[in-house]
Amino acid sequence: MPLLDDIGIPLDDAELNRRSFLKLLGSGALAVAALGTAVTSVEYLSPNVLFEDETRFRIRRPEEIAVGTLIALPKQRVYVMRSQEGFIAFSTVCTHLGCMTKYEPENNRIFCPCHGSQYTIEGVVTAGPAPRPLPRFELVVDKGFLVVNTRKAVSQDTILRYSA
Ligand code: FES
Repeated sequence: MPLLDDIGIPLDDAELNRRSFLKLLGSGALAVAALGTAVTSVEYLSPNVLFEDETRFRIRRPEEIAVGTLIALPKQRVYVMRSQEGFIAFSTVCTHLGCMTKYEPENNRIFCPCHGSQYTIEGVVTAGPAPRPLPRFELVVDKGFLVVNTRKAVSQDTILRYSA
């Protein structure tokens, strides 16, 4: 007669059941760990930022901006300037070593505090180590509003022609 465990299963079968149970438990734990790793990897590799929203944004209606006005948008790193001919949009990032420039209305210029580069309010270099003008971005009128796309650089002579 075989030896029984406390619930009446022969000890050999009970040992087998324990082993099966532990194998099943181990396999389940491995499967859960693998699934967790896979989910974490997918989350890590997918972008958390919607670049479209960060690079293309609405400013104001063109008729709301007077000739000679420079609008500084430091968060978006963009200046929008209205001249007699129309509008231009250009970067606030200094072309020397990448510092953020500042608009100084009292001096009617854009100034870089890092090494002293100076630009006109159209982004043209007038002094300092900056090697190039502040790069311009695509600017269009969309549904009645000025819309800048900082992902699209345009040539330095690009102007959105506009006359009120
Ligand atoms: S980073 Fe602007 S002058 Fe050097």
